Amino acid sequence: MYDYSKAFRIDGKVALISGAARGIGAEIASALAQAGASVLVTDVVEGLAKEQVARLRKAGGKAEFIRHDVTIEADWAAAVAAAVQLFGGLDIVVNNAGIETAALISQCEVEDFRRVLDVNVTGVFLGVKHAIRTMAPGGAAGKGGSIVNMSSVAGIIGTTAHVAYHTSKGGVRLLTKAAAIECAQLGTGIRVNSIHPGIVGTDMGDNFIKHFVDLGLAPDLDSATAAIKGLHPMGFGKTDDVASAVLYLASNASKWVNGSELVIDGGLTAA
Ligand SMILES: NC(=O)c1ccc[n+]([C@@H]2O[C@H](COP(=O)([O-])OP(=O)(O)OC[C@H]3O[C@@H](n4cnc5c(N)ncnc54)[C@H](O)[C@@H]3O)[C@@H](O)[C@H]2O)c1
Repeated sequence: MYDYSKAFRIDGKVALISGAARGIGAEIASALAQAGASVLVTDVVEGLAKEQVARLRKAGGKAEFIRHDVTIEADWAAAVAAAVQLFGGLDIVVNNAGIETAALISQCEVEDFRRVLDVNVTGVFLGVKHAIRTMAPGGAAGKGGSIVNMSSVAGIIGTTAHVAYHTSKGGVRLLTKAAAIECAQLGTGIRVNSIHPGIVGTDMGDNFIKHFVDLGLAPDLDSATAAIKGLHPMGFGKTDDVASAVLYLASNASKWVNGSELVIDGGLTAA
């Protein structure tokens, strides 16, 4: 009989989560640690990341931090090597780090556009590349595994004043599918999937709403919040809604799920 109680556990696995100092990434680190994994918390922000590691350890989890800018390839090589050295392997890589910028297309500076693509797309590409090198047969970990890429509903639908963000998250969606096919066809034992949350209450989620006021597209924060909340049939999401989805994709319960786009938005994109 298939053992469902074990299928959702990830005991003994090693997970690397980028952008895990706060917000969704920090919650993903908690979820994976609680489900049994050793977690390498990585971020460009050190103080908050170290506090998160301390919280995970206090709760009985195994956690370490390494400073890691996802746009720098040498940082990726060092991060995956650190996971193997500290915990003896690498099974799960969550490409979570991301940034946004808000501007009407006619006002969007090319430097801002490029920066968002650099972090959100090139950062994910490098994460997928180094995860495959490490987790595929012959790599330093070599046992296959699961890669989860953080896209957004913004990778499926558009909104005003976020052209760089939408472009980047659409890129993550298809980067994921290309990697999923390649990994399966080469027999790597690695699955690659993307997650597509609606608005979640984090620094980024709050700023997304505030930008509509800053740009004069909404009269005040209350009306901007009400308008954007109104698009979500079940209201805004929480970080644990997203972390639960990552845990599913990281675990053996999703062993036949590859190249999928898991939408977590309370019905926003169902309409
Ligand atoms: N909050 C939302 O409403 C929402 C919705 C859909 C998707 N997302 C996506 O979820 C992910 C996490 O978002 P969040 O809301 O927690 O954002 P956040 O801004 O609260 O946290 C993002 C983290 O990424 C880190 N980061 C930024 N640039 C980095 C870099 N170059 N290298 C390493 N780390 C870097 C930041 O320091 C920060 O700790 C992002 O990819 C975001 O696009 C968020």
